[in-house]
Amino acid sequence: MSASQEIVFFVNGEKVADPNVDPEWTLLYYLRKKLYLSGTKLGCAEGGCGACTVMISRYDHEAQKVVHLSANACLTPVCAVHGQAVTTVEGIGSTQRGLHAVQQRIAAAHGSQCGFCTPGIVMSMYALLRACSADGKTRKPSIKDLEVAFQGNLCRCTGYRPIIEGFRTLTEEWERCDSRLLATNGASIVNGCVGGLTNGCCKTNGKVNGNGCCQANGEVNGSCDEDERAPGDMEILFDTSKFKPYDSSQEPIFPPELQLSQGLDQQYLMIKGPRVTWYRPTTLEQLLLLKHIHPQARIVVGNTEIGVEVKFKNLLYPVLMHPTKVKELVAIHQSSSGIKFGSSVTLNDIDSTLKTAIDRLPEPKTRVFKAIVDMLHWFAGKQIRNVAAVGGNIMTGSPISDLNPIFIAANCEIELASKDGGRRTVTMDGSFFTGYRKNIVKPNEVMLSITVPYSHEGMFFKAYKQARRREDDISIVNAAFQVEFDGSRPPVVKKANLVFGGMAPTVVEAKKAAKILVGRKIDAQLMEDVCNVLSDELPLSPDAPGGMIAYRRSLTLGFFYKFFVDLHENICRDDPSMECLPERLLSASQGLSAATPQSSQYFQVVPPDQPKIDPIGRPIPHSSAFKQATGEAVYCDDLPRFENELYLSLVLSTRAHAKVVSIDADPALAIEGVRAFFCASDLDPMRNKLGVMVKDEEIFASSIVESIGQVIGAVVAIDQATAQRASKLVKVVYEDLHPLILTIEEAIAHKSFHEGTNRMLTKGDVDAGMKMSTHVLEGEVHLGGQEHFYLETNCAIAIPREDGNELEVICSTQHPDELQRLISEAVGMKANHIVCRVKRLGGAFGGKETQSPIIAVPVAIAALKLKRAVRCMLDRDEDMVATGGRNPFHGKYKMGFTSDGKILSYEVDLYNNAGRSLDLSSLVIEQALMLGQNGYNIPNVRSKGVCCKTNLQSNTAFRGFGAPQGMLITENAITDVAAILGVDPAKIREKNMVKNGDTMIYDHTLQNCTLQKCWEECLKKSAYNQKRRESEAFNKKNRWRKRGVCILPTMFGISLVFPINQAGALVLVYTDGSVLITHGGTEMGQGLHTKMIQVASRVLEIPEDIIYISETSTDKIPNAPPTAASSSSDLNGMAVLNACRKIKQRLKPYVAADPKGSWNDWVNAAYLDSVNLSASGFYRSPNPGYDWETHTGNPHHYYTYGAACSEVEIDCLTGDHQVLSTDIVMDLGESLNPAIDIGQVEGAFMQGYGLYTLEELTYSPTGMLYSRGPGTYKIPGFSNIPTKFNVSLLRGAPNPRAVYSSKAVGEPPLALAMSVFFAIKDAITSARSESGLSGPFRLDSPATSARIRMACEDHITKKVSVEEGGPSWNIIP
Ligand SMILES: Cc1cc2nc3c(=O)[nH]c(=O)nc-3n(C[C@H](O)[C@H](O)[C@H](O)COP(=O)(O)OP(=O)(O)OC[C@H]3O[C@@H](n4cnc5c(N)ncnc54)[C@H](O)[C@@H]3O)c2cc1C
Ligand code: FES
Ligand code: FES
Repeated sequence: MSASQEIVFFVNGEKVADPNVDPEWTLLYYLRKKLYLSGTKLGCAEGGCGACTVMISRYDHEAQKVVHLSANACLTPVCAVHGQAVTTVEGIGSTQRGLHAVQQRIAAAHGSQCGFCTPGIVMSMYALLRACSADGKTRKPSIKDLEVAFQGNLCRCTGYRPIIEGFRTLTEEWERCDSRLLATNGASIVNGCVGGLTNGCCKTNGKVNGNGCCQANGEVNGSCDEDERAPGDMEILFDTSKFKPYDSSQEPIFPPELQLSQGLDQQYLMIKGPRVTWYRPTTLEQLLLLKHIHPQARIVVGNTEIGVEVKFKNLLYPVLMHPTKVKELVAIHQSSSGIKFGSSVTLNDIDSTLKTAIDRLPEPKTRVFKAIVDMLHWFAGKQIRNVAAVGGNIMTGSPISDLNPIFIAANCEIELASKDGGRRTVTMDGSFFTGYRKNIVKPNEVMLSITVPYSHEGMFFKAYKQARRREDDISIVNAAFQVEFDGSRPPVVKKANLVFGGMAPTVVEAKKAAKILVGRKIDAQLMEDVCNVLSDELPLSPDAPGGMIAYRRSLTLGFFYKFFVDLHENICRDDPSMECLPERLLSASQGLSAATPQSSQYFQVVPPDQPKIDPIGRPIPHSSAFKQATGEAVYCDDLPRFENELYLSLVLSTRAHAKVVSIDADPALAIEGVRAFFCASDLDPMRNKLGVMVKDEEIFASSIVESIGQVIGAVVAIDQATAQRASKLVKVVYEDLHPLILTIEEAIAHKSFHEGTNRMLTKGDVDAGMKMSTHVLEGEVHLGGQEHFYLETNCAIAIPREDGNELEVICSTQHPDELQRLISEAVGMKANHIVCRVKRLGGAFGGKETQSPIIAVPVAIAALKLKRAVRCMLDRDEDMVATGGRNPFHGKYKMGFTSDGKILSYEVDLYNNAGRSLDLSSLVIEQALMLGQNGYNIPNVRSKGVCCKTNLQSNTAFRGFGAPQGMLITENAITDVAAILGVDPAKIREKNMVKNGDTMIYDHTLQNCTLQKCWEECLKKSAYNQKRRESEAFNKKNRWRKRGVCILPTMFGISLVFPINQAGALVLVYTDGSVLITHGGTEMGQGLHTKMIQVASRVLEIPEDIIYISETSTDKIPNAPPTAASSSSDLNGMAVLNACRKIKQRLKPYVAADPKGSWNDWVNAAYLDSVNLSASGFYRSPNPGYDWETHTGNPHHYYTYGAACSEVEIDCLTGDHQVLSTDIVMDLGESLNPAIDIGQVEGAFMQGYGLYTLEELTYSPTGMLYSRGPGTYKIPGFSNIPTKFNVSLLRGAPNPRAVYSSKAVGEPPLALAMSVFFAIKDAITSARSESGLSGPFRLDSPATSARIRMACEDHITKKVSVEEGGPSWNIIP
C-alpha cells in the first residue's frame, strides 16, 4: 500500500507542504518554531489554559459543509491537521491590516492586561463566531455560547469581566437589546446591557437592580442614585459606537483546494520520525492490520490523554495510529435500541447528537442521553471536547473518567474488532475495567463503537460530578445511578445500578447498596439503609491516592441523597398515595442559583473643562492592548532564534532534603546534540551564590539539596527537546537527610526558623486589655500558599557580545537591575558590561521578582562559557516545582472584647512557611504584622511573627505580600467574636473601624482616612441589610443550600522601603516631535507604561499617540527598584513627571517666542538652538521606612482603602459554591486611568478569590508538589466571577501624596476577596445550625469544596469521619 510521507495543510490561507515532519511535533511547536507565528502562546502544554487556542477547519465532504472548531495547538499533533486549515490569531487581523472585530473588542473593552492569554481567548471567540456562521446559516452567538466557548481559557490578570463585556457586544442578546434601544430611544450604543441579560436590558425594561432606569436618568452602569452623580459624568469605560460591526461574509474563504478535492482526506499516511511513526489508515482493514502488526501501538484521536502522558510522564509510543478517516469509527447511527457512536466520534459531536435526540424523542427515552449531555457540560473545556473522542475516554479507563460511570450504569454496549478475532460485543459493567487503567480489551483489538441505550418509562437515570473547580476540571468523585421500577403503586425497585468514580483504582459498581434497593419502596428508611451499606462498601484507606478521604466518602452518600430526593419527588408527583418530602429538603437536588453575569463600574469622570488632549483620568486602553490582541506583542520566548542559539534545561532535585553524593551527566552528554552540562563544580564556590536579603541560596546546589525542585545543574543542547530529554538522564545519587520538614507545624516542633526573622510589634498593654475584657477568645486558622500562575512561565535568553566581554540578557523579570547585579556577581563581570532588557511580561504578581534569577543566572553562565546565545523557558510543571509562591501562614490568636463588641486586646502569633531559603519571607512577615490588623483600631495589640524554614521551594513575594494572610487571621477572630456574641460581624467591624487621627501599631497617625466613607458607600450600594434579610429567609426555606453574606473593609499601606523607594526616567524628544520614554518599571499587564504615557502627555501637553515606551533596560535606567509593592506608578510617575518638566522648561523660550506654534515647531526651534532634548528624571518617596530595632519610622507613605460585600450560596452536600454578588468600593484617589484601575481591582479581587477559596497546593509526604499545572491546580475561570460584580471608585478623595492625586492599586483590592471567604463561613454557620451547632468553628483557607462540605456537619459527615493522624497521600503545608 502506497503511503504519503508529506503533511499538507493550510495556515492562515497559505499552503504548507512538509515532507520532513516529526510526529512528535505538536501544532504549537510547528506554528511557533517552523512558521514563526508566535502569536499562539504556550501556557501549560496540557490543554488546561487555552493560551494556545487556534481554529481548525475542515471540509465535511459528506455533509458538504465547512466545520470550524477551536482546539489546543499544544496537544494537537501536527500530523493530525493533514488536509485541514488552521487559523491563528495572526490570520484574522493585525494593527497594519486592520483588526478583526473580536480583536478590537477585547482590547477596547480593556480585556487584555498582560496579554499572554489574549490570543487564545480571541481565537476561542473567533472560532465561535465562525461556527455560528458556517454553512451560510448566520446566527449570532448567545451569552450561553460564550460561557461554553471560554470554559477552556484562563486569564490570571483581568478577572474576566471586561472580556465578557467586550464580547457581549457580539451576541444575539446584545443585538436584541440594542435594536430595541435604538427603536425606542434612538440613542447610540453605550457600555452594555448592564441591567443584565436575564432581566432584560436596563435601557429597555427600565430597571437596574430595581433602582430605576439607567437610560432615563443618564446612568449607564449600576444603580441610579441621582444624588451621587456629578454633572457631566461620562460613565462609559469603552464606547461601543466605535466598534466595527462584525460581518461574517468578509471572513477569509476556506481553502478551495481542500473543498474541491478529497485527495488529502483519502491518503494513507505514514510519517516516520526519529523515534515515532505516525500512521493514518483510511479503512478498517488497514487499521486492524496495523494493530495486528503493532499490538502495542496507540490509537490517537484527540491526543488529550496521550499528549499529556508523553509530555509529563515521559512515555514514548513508537507507533501511533490516527483513525479519523476510518468511517466505521466516526459514524453515528440511530437504531431501535439506542444511538451507536463510532469510537472516534468527538465528545462535541456526541453532545450535539444527543441534544438533537433529546429535542426530538419522548422524554422517557432520553434520560441517559440527558445525563451524558449534562455531564459533558462539565467535561474539560470546549477546545478539548472538540477533538477528544469517546473511545479515548473509555479505553484510558481513568478511575475519574466522567463518562465511564454513566456508560456502566446504563450498561452500554461496546463493539470490538481485531484482524484475527473478528468483531465481538461486550456490555459495559463492573467487570469491564480490570485494574488501574486496564480493561478487558485485547492489545490487538480496536474499539469500534459504543451504543448508548434509550431509557424508558419507569426508569430513572442521573449522574453527578464534584471537582475542585466546577468548570474544566476532572472529578474528585463522580457517580451515575440507574433505578428501574415495576409498575406497582407505590412503585417498587426492580433493578438498580449505582456506579462511582474516584473511589477505587477503577470505576466501581456498589453492588451491595444496589441490592438493598431492589424490592423496596422509596422511603426514608431505604435511604438510611443504602447510605449505611454504601459507606461500608466504598471505603478508602487513609493514604488512598487523591487524599480528601472523608470528603470523598461523604460525596458518595451526598450524591445518593441527592438522587434519592429527586427520585422521591418524581414518584410522589405521579403517585398521590405517597407523602412528599418537605419542601426544604428539595434543595438537595436543586443546583446552585445560576444567572447570566451582570456588572457595573462607577468612576469619577474628568471635569468638563479638562482639555481634550489631556488623558489623565480618562479610561484609555492599555498601550499595547491592540498588539496583544493580534499576537504582535512580543514576549521573551517569541523572539526568533539567534544564530547558533542553544537551549538550556535545568536539572532539578527530586529529593526534599538530601546530600548530593554524586552527579553523573555522562548519559546526558552522550545524547546527540547535547553541548554541555554545568553544575556547582563549574563555578567558583564564592560566586555560586544567590539571595536577596541574605545569600543563602546557591546557583547550583553543591552538596545538599533542601527542597525538591532546587537547581542542581543545567544541560545545554541544540534545541529544547534534546536539552529536556537529556536533563532527565543526568543521574544524581542522593543520601536522604533528616529531619524532613514540610509544614509549619513540623517547623515549630523542630524549632526550624530562619535566623533573625523573629519580629514583634506592640501597642498599648495587651495583658491589661485582656483583663478589662468581658470575653476572651482563642483560636487558630491556617492559610495555604498560592502559585502565581502567571500565564507566561519564566524565560531568559542570554546573548554574549564582543567575544564574551559583554552580555545582553532578555528576561521576563520584574527586577532587571537585581538580575544584572546577580549575573555580575556570578560571572565576575562588571555591571556596565551587562545589559538586562525587558519588553513585557506575561504576568508576574511578585513571582518574577526574586525568582527569575534561578533560571536567568544559569542561562547567563552557560552563554558566557559557551560563547553562544542560550535560551530557557520553563515548562509549566518545572516553573511550579522550581519557583516558590505565596507563603502559607498559620495564625494563633487571642482576642479580648466587651459584650457590646468593642475589641480591647489582640494577641497574635504568625508563622509563615518560608521554604528552604529566606528570599523575601522576612519582609512578608513584617508586612503581615503591620497590616494584619486590617482597618481596625484595637487599643492593645501584640503581634509576633517568624519565618519557618522548611524543605519546600523558597516562597516569595506575591501580590499583597503577607497582608492578605495577616488580615484573614484578624477577620477570622472578628468573625469568632460575632459568633460568641450572636451578632452580625458587620456590627463588630463597624464598631472597631479606624478613622482619621487613630494610631497604627507602628505609631503612625492616620490622615486622610476614607475607610468609613468606603464602608458606608459599600453598605448602601450592596444593599447589605436587605441581602442579609433575604439570605436568612432563603436559608429558612432550604435545608441543603445555604446563603451567606459578608461585608468587610481593607486598608493597605503603600510604599517600597528604603533604599528601593526611588525611581528614574529618561525622556528623549526627537525632531519629528515623537517622544521616547524609558523608566525603571516593567510592564507586566498592570498598565504602568500606559499611565506613564498619560503623565508625560499631561506635562508636555502633547497627544499620547506620539509618546512611546519601548522597553525597560538597565542601560537606560540604572539601579531601578523592582516593579512591585503597587508603587511603580507613584515612583516612576514622579520620575517621568520630573524629566518631562525639565524638557518643558527648556522649551519655554520657544513657546514664548512662537505662542501659536506647534509642539513640532518648538522642538525644532530648540534643536536648531542646540538645546538638549533629552532629560533624566528622578524621584525618591519621602518616607524613610521602619526600623525594627528601634521601632521608629513610618513604613507607609499613605493608605489605599476599600470595602467589599459578597453574597454566596453553598451546596451543603457537595461543598460547591457560587458567588451571587460582589460590590466593591475602592478609594483610588483621583484615578490616573479608571479603566486600568478598575481592571486592577477586578483582577486582584479574582486572584484573592482564588487564594481564599480555590487554589490549593498539595504535596506528597516526601515534599513533591502534586499540583503542577492547570490540571491539578485550579485558578478561577470565567464561571467563577460573581454573578453580579459591581465596582465603584470613591469620588472626591484626592490623594495629596502621589502623582496627580492618584493612589496605588495593584495589591490593595486582593484582600477584599476575604468577603467571599467569610460569606461562605456565614453560609456554613447556617448549615451547622440545622444540626444544632452554634458558636465559632475553624475553617482554614482556602475554603475548598472539601472544607466547606466537611464543615457543614450533619448525619452524613458523621458516617464518614476519619481518624486524624496516620499515613496520608498528601500534605498541605
Ligand atoms: C485539559 C484536559 C481536561 C480533561 N478533562 C476531563 C474531564 O473533565 N473528564 C474526563 O473524564 N476526562 C477529561 N480529560 C481526559 C481526556 O480528555 C478524555 O479522556 C478524552 O476522552 C480522551 O480522548 P482522546 O481522543 O483525546 O484520547 P487519545 O489521547 O487520543 O487516546 C487515549 C487512549 O485511548 C486509546 N484509544 C482511543 N481510541 C481507541 C480505539 N478506538 N480503540 C482502542 N483504543 C483506543 C488510545 O490508544 C489511547 O491510549 C481531560 C483531558 C485534558 C487534557
Ligand atoms: S498551552 Fe495549550 S492549553 Fe495551555
Ligand atoms: S491578560 Fe490574561 S493572563 Fe494576563
